[in-house]
Amino acid sequence: MSVLIAPSMLSSDFARLADELAAVERAGADWIHLDVMDGHFVPNITFGPPVIKAMRKYSKLVFDVHLMIAPADPYLEAFADAGADIISVHAEAGVHLDRSLQAIRALGKKAGVVLNPSTPETVLEYVLDRIDLILLMTVNPGFGGQAFIPAVVEKVARVKKMIGDRPIHIEIDGGVTPETAPLVTRAGADVLVAGSAVFKGGKEDAYRANIAAIRAA
Ligand code: DX5
Ligand code: ZN
Repeated sequence: MSVLIAPSMLSSDFARLADELAAVERAGADWIHLDVMDGHFVPNITFGPPVIKAMRKYSKLVFDVHLMIAPADPYLEAFADAGADIISVHAEAGVHLDRSLQAIRALGKKAGVVLNPSTPETVLEYVLDRIDLILLMTVNPGFGGQAFIPAVVEKVARVKKMIGDRPIHIEIDGGVTPETAPLVTRAGADVLVAGSAVFKGGKEDAYRANIAAIRAA
């Protein structure tokens, strides 16, 4: 199984987003991971639809939008219009997960569910036929550069078993490095988000080496 690498732009230089996007694409990124934070669901604020729309002109890669906002439903259309390809909502961010997932698919986008480290995978049980992706957080969301939480590895294996032969991606987000990547890919993950581990070094050659190191692991 080939593993996709989705650099998180959260660790890029926000003053040079278009250049950073192009650099990471040339350096071997498969998808672009975009972390949207509202200062309410998570204790940090990043960017929203206008910034994603501006970035859209500079890349043809899949835009994997991770919404850390509550409520999410009022903004789904704006993220779809901005150019998101995959829109993922946290199971913890609202009480009507099924409704949010239906809304994302009705907008013609791929739908994902995100689980915080402490959230059990059982919340996925009745939405498996409505989703294209499950994003398992291996840090508490809000910031880049945090340490990987190893307890989640067991959850990855359980989710892998749970999805059976459904075509659902298992994506991992938080503290992914060449050291932690094999723990989650062995358990069944096929998409790896990496922020600080990709953008360290600050330039394209470093990004290329960093992505290659995660892929090789
Ligand atoms: C955290 C974000 C992550 C973050 C990962 O809330 O969802 O996507 O950018 O950063 P690293 O890879 O540095 O842990
Ligand atoms: Zn993320």
